[in-house]
Amino acid sequence: MGVVGLAVMGSNLARNLASREGNTVAVYNRTTAKTDELVAEHPEAGFVATDSYVTFAQALTRPRTAIIMVKAGRATDAVIDELVHVFEPGDIIVDGGNSLFTDTIRREKAVRETGINFVGMGVSGGEEGALLGPSLMPGGSDESWVTLGPILRSIAAVAEGEPCVTHIGHDGAGHFVKMVHNGIEYADMQLIAEAYDLIRRGTGKTPAEIADVFAEWNRGELESYLIEITAEVLRQVDAETGRPLVDVILDQAGAKGTGAWTVQTALSLGVPVSGIAEATFARSLSSHPEQRSVSRELPGPDAATAFADDPDAFIEEVRLALYASKIVAYSQGFDEIRAGAAEYDWSIDLGEVAKIWRGGCIIRAQFLNRITDAYRAEPDLPVLLTAPYFVDALTRAQEAWRRVVTISAQTGIPAPAFSSSLAYYDGLRAERLPAALIQGQRDFFGAHTYKRIDKDGTFHTLWSGDRTEIEAEDTH
Ligand SMILES: NC(=O)c1ccc[n+]([C@@H]2O[C@H](COP(=O)([O-])OP(=O)(O)OC[C@H]3O[C@@H](n4cnc5c(N)ncnc54)[C@H](OP(=O)(O)O)[C@@H]3O)[C@@H](O)[C@H]2O)c1
Repeated sequence: MGVVGLAVMGSNLARNLASREGNTVAVYNRTTAKTDELVAEHPEAGFVATDSYVTFAQALTRPRTAIIMVKAGRATDAVIDELVHVFEPGDIIVDGGNSLFTDTIRREKAVRETGINFVGMGVSGGEEGALLGPSLMPGGSDESWVTLGPILRSIAAVAEGEPCVTHIGHDGAGHFVKMVHNGIEYADMQLIAEAYDLIRRGTGKTPAEIADVFAEWNRGELESYLIEITAEVLRQVDAETGRPLVDVILDQAGAKGTGAWTVQTALSLGVPVSGIAEATFARSLSSHPEQRSVSRELPGPDAATAFADDPDAFIEEVRLALYASKIVAYSQGFDEIRAGAAEYDWSIDLGEVAKIWRGGCIIRAQFLNRITDAYRAEPDLPVLLTAPYFVDALTRAQEAWRRVVTISAQTGIPAPAFSSSLAYYDGLRAERLPAALIQGQRDFFGAHTYKRIDKDGTFHTLWSGDRTEIEAEDTH
């Protein structure tokens, strides 16, 4: 098999492939020096170096399988165009980059017309995952999966004895699920960051002391890679200044766009992924220093270290609030996958998705087993957080969650993802929502009509006339 694109992800994935029994891997990179460097540095891999698409294709046994790991976007199209010319019907091109799923749908359709199989595959786990075992989310045809399945199972991460890969669904399904994975990752990271901020400013504890808190949390129901690395980051001391590293890192979070894609897609599907949206917006807010500097004197409470004398009870409340908000974020993410599957006609097993995220990827966590259990028990579960295990966790967290959000508002320590998760939860459980008033307003200014609770049909009030109600055509 072959790998095209030998930057950090491609070279590590190629090394991972080559390390498996019986595999010989041909490698190609646009800039040949990078190919030569990789081959020279890793003689143990037994790579077959190639310097053109023609020699690359010649080096592969049929049906050919090539994994592309290049910069998502135009570069991916450029490589596909080249491969289509040198591959033959029945061969398989896999795009392992972070491509937008709609691009994958388009590419799959175009490549399929040549008789070549095209598979868009989400790869999660960063450079270490690519080398040691990523979580893999392939889309594409059933036919491609027959060939690809054994290869991908051999290089994927293993969680509780099972490889972290499954055939997600046709065409863009794999990249769609990878996109939502990244969106959930944004929400998870933001929630952890808010928990840290609340504890730091609420109790006055040092980053090293808070690292101990996270390390402790990592032994309980919050156990996950992100909680684990949070403890590591908080414990790190800057060699130059002797200060905690977190205090010398500029507080402006970057983003590569998959969070924004998740939110944009959710908006067009009409799925409220408010936790992911708040996390994405929080990164944006942090990255506007000019707006932050002119706003610094705005009135508000000074965040006092109100819990310095008795920090433990507050820390436990933050832990519970974090867990509850995390359940909401995952529930919203799975809701988006369900809606995407319905819109694009993919048959996605949500329980399997949770399973393949247990290892290799950034959001890997024990907790994902509970999601698999929930979908195993009820595959058509309309809202994940209504599964019995999560209801129990949310019941336990209730009081603490509300108190933490109240404290955030009272002290002025921003916790947008905590607050919006709670608002979403309360919105779901509300007997009546003020959406009725919005329908009234829409009917008033735009004759958008409304439904009634007590009879069938669509209605409009003659607002600028005598205000009687008439039956009307549904104009939404
Ligand atoms: N980094 C991560 O943690 C991570 C995790 C999951 C997925 N991904 C995805 O994996 C893919 C690879 O990521 P990366 O960080 O290893 O590399 P990258 O910086 O995204 O891309 C660099 C690679 O793309 C090639 N390339 C760029 N333009 C090209 C063109 N027009 N034609 C042919 N090749 C071209 C480069 O070749 P030259 O050497 O010739 O410039 C190089 O091999 C990306 O889609 C990324 O989003 C990354």
